[in-house]
Amino acid sequence: MNPLLFCLLLLFQCFFLCKSQLPIPAKIDGFVYRMPSVWGESVVVEAFLDPVCPDSRDSWPPLKQALDYYSGRLSLVVHPFPLPYHSNAFLACRSLHIANKLNSSSVYPLLELFFKTQEKYYNAPTYGMSRASVVADMTKLALTAIGESIGTAFQLGFNDSSTDQAARISFKYGCSRGVAGAPAFFVNGMPLSGSPLDYNKWRSTIDPLLANNKS
Ligand SMILES: *[C@@H]1O[C@H](CO)[C@@H](O)[C@H](O)[C@H]1NC(C)=O
Ligand SMILES: *[C@@H]1O[C@H](CO)[C@@H](O)[C@H](O)[C@H]1NC(C)=O
Repeated sequence: MNPLLFCLLLLFQCFFLCKSQLPIPAKIDGFVYRMPSVWGESVVVEAFLDPVCPDSRDSWPPLKQALDYYSGRLSLVVHPFPLPYHSNAFLACRSLHIANKLNSSSVYPLLELFFKTQEKYYNAPTYGMSRASVVADMTKLALTAIGESIGTAFQLGFNDSSTDQAARISFKYGCSRGVAGAPAFFVNGMPLSGSPLDYNKWRSTIDPLLANNKS
């Protein structure tokens, strides 16, 4: 194809993609770990995490340590962000949305379970597994976080289009913020470069903000 024509086609496509309206969810995406007690008085971190991504897993303990240290002055919202090259990431993110629907206090226990056992959901070990058996396996995992009683409800959650929609919104939300990998962090709305972060980096990022935010 003529290169000029190709460029024009690309521009044309981009114009329409940029113009089309993303679906607006009824509720803003994300699982609140800790809310700001008073708006503006705490530093707000948004974390984009993939439950089956090793870097996301490794970034979680130092972030939790920072949450402990700052207590009420640090707020956190986690957005699940399924990376397309992790074959089971979307199902894992959908699991979190199902958990949120059935028992919202089980979302973080389930996320931590994913971090603990994520190796078995990597691409290679699941290469020969059907989608149905991955779903069955994730359901079993979720039951240990949510309680045995909701076993069938959890499995049905994978047939519930609203949880599919919610996981898609999570992905689109990340894309709309320019997220291209996990983990990705935003502090008071601004993207942090150099993730994943260790605890000292969290301290050196947040300490000066809080010092400037004394009322
Ligand atoms: C919801 O999940 C939490 C955290 O795993 C658990 O402690 C609690 O018992 C669950 N609630 C119900 C009603 O199952
Ligand atoms: C869920 O959907 C799959 C595929 O559409 C179907 O095979 C399965 O029977 C459904 N499960 C339930 C419990 O409805």
